Amino acid sequence: MAMTYSEKVRDHFANPRNVGTIEDANGVGEVGNAVCGDIMKMYLKIENGVIEDVKFNTFGCGAAIATSSMATEMIKGKTIEEAEQLTNKAVVEALDGLPPVKIHCSVLAEEAVHAALEDYRKRLAAQQQ
Ligand code: FES
Repeated sequence: MAMTYSEKVRDHFANPRNVGTIEDANGVGEVGNAVCGDIMKMYLKIENGVIEDVKFNTFGCGAAIATSSMATEMIKGKTIEEAEQLTNKAVVEALDGLPPVKIHCSVLAEEAVHAALEDYRKRLAAQQQ
């Protein structure tokens, strides 16, 4: 059976938003999936507790690209606390669904956001010492 992707998944795969790197990012997270070998890197620029800018690079499948693209759109302009609430389920819903075998790709997007936020918190704690 052929896999079917929603229009939104196709759109975010063909025209991913916020691709690239941020030179002066203050939160960077990199995660990988051991099974498929895909890697996702997320860059955050946080000012006064708000995500002013976010960029990503994904070396992975189409669903990984689409979910990271959607995840960046969902957290841009949000507070750290709001971004921490981001779940892969919310990303999948925003994309109008993913084939079941591709759900793990959306988990990578959630993990990349959380890893970047954690890196930001670590840097902040180190500054305050
Ligand atoms: Fe690995 Fe999609 S197949 S992230």
